[in-house]
Amino acid sequence: MNLILFGPPGGGKGTQADLLTSKYNLNKISTGDLLREEILKKTNLGKKIKETVDKGKLISDNLINKLIENVLKEKINSNQIIFDGYPRTLNQANTLNILLTKYNLKISCVLSLNVSLDTLIKRVAGRKYCSKCNKIFNDHFYPSTNKNHKCGNSYLSKRPDDNEDTIKNRYKTYLDETVPVLKFYENTSTLYKIDGELEINEISQQIYNIMDSING
Ligand code: AP5
Ligand code: MG
Repeated sequence: MNLILFGPPGGGKGTQADLLTSKYNLNKISTGDLLREEILKKTNLGKKIKETVDKGKLISDNLINKLIENVLKEKINSNQIIFDGYPRTLNQANTLNILLTKYNLKISCVLSLNVSLDTLIKRVAGRKYCSKCNKIFNDHFYPSTNKNHKCGNSYLSKRPDDNEDTIKNRYKTYLDETVPVLKFYENTSTLYKIDGELEINEISQQIYNIMDSING
């Protein structure tokens, strides 16, 4: 089964994608993670991407569509893909449909997390990620402990785009360019709306129930 995790910046997509990936043995494709990998390489392309990401704007559809096709080709045999943070524009949603047909794949469900701007600001302010294992934590809501994180706190850092100004810009971009994608999927029978304000394990339980009902 292939699925899409949809939601605003800081809405919990990465957190739920990681939980689902380990429970159902899925392959995660996160365009945000792929772009951050390119930024870390400090290539010319990486520098241009960083400028756009730091402004809270979206990377061009052209680049994202090429990136996705390359990754999709590598994971094609698995048919167990979870898309985190993609598609984010109508152009990307249309391109994904073309790619799915081309590679004979199907999306079983789109899971949409609904979270208010106030909550997003609080979550992003407390977010830390581990540069060694890529796990996502939160100083207030999900701190790294000896039990849930073996790498130790020295690998934890903040994302450069996690400040209040950028999150407000990212949220505006989300409303302007990404919410129309939700309407695109509303016209299909695969969209599930989830209250993303709940606690992490309450949300994942709802998602497991949906996944299990689809798997039969
Ligand atoms: P991306 O990395 O995808 O960022 P985003 O969409 O802004 O989303 P985030 O990763 O910030 O949040 P999340 O929903 O994954 O939440 P998380 O689980 O971490 O993209 C970054 C940038 O790259 C974009 O701004 C854009 O420039 C570019 N880009 C990416 N994809 C693109 C595309 N397709 N097209 C064009 N440009 C693209 O959770 C957040 C925090 O909250 C964590 O600390 C977590 O521990 C905590 N938390 C999670 N759930 C809960 C909960 N239920 N209760 C309490 N705390 C929680
Ligand atoms: Mg994320």
